[in-house]
Amino acid sequence: MTTTESVLKVRGGKPLKGEITVRGAKNFVSKALVATLLGSEGESTLSNVPRIRDVGVVKRMLKLHGVTVTTNESKDVMTMNAQKVVNGEIKEIAQLAGASRIPILFCGPLLHRLGEAYIPDLGGCKIGDRPIDYHFGALRQFGAEIEKMEGAVRILAPDEGLKGAKIALEYPSVGTTEQVLLTAVLAKGVTELSNAAVEPEIIDLIAVLQKMGAIINVQTDRVIKIEGVDSLKGYNHTSLSDRIEAASWGCAALATGGDIFVRGADQLSMMAFLNVFRKIGGGFDIVEEGIRFYHPGGDLKSIAFETDVHPGFMTDWQQPLVVALTQAKGHSIVHETVYENRFGFTQALRDMGAQIQVYSDCLGSSACRFGARNFRHSAVINGPTQLKPKHIVVPDLRGGFSHLIAALAADGESLVEGIDLIDRGYENFGDKLEALGADVTYVQGSSSAGA
Ligand code: EPZ
Repeated sequence: MTTTESVLKVRGGKPLKGEITVRGAKNFVSKALVATLLGSEGESTLSNVPRIRDVGVVKRMLKLHGVTVTTNESKDVMTMNAQKVVNGEIKEIAQLAGASRIPILFCGPLLHRLGEAYIPDLGGCKIGDRPIDYHFGALRQFGAEIEKMEGAVRILAPDEGLKGAKIALEYPSVGTTEQVLLTAVLAKGVTELSNAAVEPEIIDLIAVLQKMGAIINVQTDRVIKIEGVDSLKGYNHTSLSDRIEAASWGCAALATGGDIFVRGADQLSMMAFLNVFRKIGGGFDIVEEGIRFYHPGGDLKSIAFETDVHPGFMTDWQQPLVVALTQAKGHSIVHETVYENRFGFTQALRDMGAQIQVYSDCLGSSACRFGARNFRHSAVINGPTQLKPKHIVVPDLRGGFSHLIAALAADGESLVEGIDLIDRGYENFGDKLEALGADVTYVQGSSSAGA
C-alpha cells in the first residue's frame, strides 16, 4: 500500500496473522548516521536501514552539513562521505529538525570537525519534559562553551580542542551516553563515563566507532572508558534489528488473538520483553530468522512490572503491552520509571472502554525519581475488556502505534488520525497490516512519509 494520507480507517476485531519483516533499529540507525561525521577519511556504508521518516531527517541533516549521501535502489543501504564537513544554515536545520531530537548528537562531531556547532531547539515525542541538561553538562566537561541564542544554541570548542573528562551521569541516559561516546572518541586523553546507558543500540554504536578506529572499553557497573584517538575513518556496518518494532507486532498478535512471525526479531535484545510476554501467557517460538508471537488461546494473565533502562523492560515496549494487558484477566500494574509522562495515551484506551487508572504513586517494587513529584507514572489495568471502536488522534510515535493496535482489537470501525506520526518509526506499516490480513484503508489528509 503506498499512500500519502494520514487517517486510517480500521475495521477491527480480526486476528492479525501472517509474516512481516523488521529491519534496522530507528534508535541505532540515526546515531550511526551521525557517527559518519567523525570519519574524515573514506566512506561509511550502513546496511539494513529502515525506510522511516526519522532516517530521512538525519539524511537531510547530514547533507546540510556537507556530507554526501547515496542510497541503493531499495533504500536499505546508505553510503556517506564526510571528508568535507560544513556548518549548516541554522534556519534550515531548525526546519528539518522540528520533529526530531537527533540534532543534539551532532554537537561532538561538529565541534571536532569545525570547532563550533549550532543546534536548534529540539522536538521529539511529547512524553515528558525531555530536557538536555545532561548533554550540555557533559559537553562543558569536555571544555565546550555553550551560548543560548534565539531558537538555537551555539557551542564552541576551545582553541586547543576538546579534552577527555571524568563524567558521572545522574541517570543512565541513552542520548547523553551517545553524546559522550561521539565526543570522547576524538577528544584528547581518556574519558571515563560512569552510570552509562548500555542499551543494545549503544553497544552497536560502540561497534561502529571501533570500526572507525576508536578505542572504547565497556567495563562492569555501567562504566565506559574511551581513549581519544587523532582521527577516524569510515565504516561498513549492518544495523541490529528494531526491538521496539518487533515487540510492537508481538503485542499486536496478543491483543488481536493473532499469530505473527516477525522476521528479523532478535532474542538477545528482547529478553526482558519475552519474559513478560511469557508471564502473561503469550506464546512465542524463536528461530534464527526471527520470532513467532501468538495468542495460544484461553485467558491471558495479569502482571506487575516496571520499565527501566537496559537490561530492564524498555519504556518503548510499555505502551503496546498496555493494550495487550487490557485483554488479560485481572489487575495488571505498570510502573513507568524512565519518563514521567508516558501514560497520556491511556485516555484514548479508556474512551474505547478499557479500565485503566493512572497514579502518581510508585506502584512498583522500588521508589523511582518521579514518586515524590506528583507525576502520574503508574497505571493499573483491569481486564479483560472488549474494546469499542473510536475516532482516535495519535499523540506520539509509540502511543500512536498502540492506538492502532487497540483499533485492530476493537470490534467495528475506528478512525485513527495523524498516523503520519507513526511513519517516524514504523516502516511501511500499512503494507504490513495488509499482509497480516487487517482491514484498513487510508481515507484523507496528507503526510510526509518516506525515507
Ligand atoms: C532515547 O531517547 C530514545 N530516542 C527513546 O525512544 C527512548 O525511549 C529512550 O532513549 C529510552 O530508552 C532515541 O534514541 C532517538 P534518555 P533519549 O536520554 O536518548 C531524562 C522512541 O519512541 N533526561 O535515555 O532522549 C529524560 O527526560 C523513543 O523511539 C534528562 O533529565 O532518552 C528521561 O526521563 C522516544 N536530561 C530519561 O532521562 C537529559 O539531558 C531518559 O532519557 C537527558 C535525559
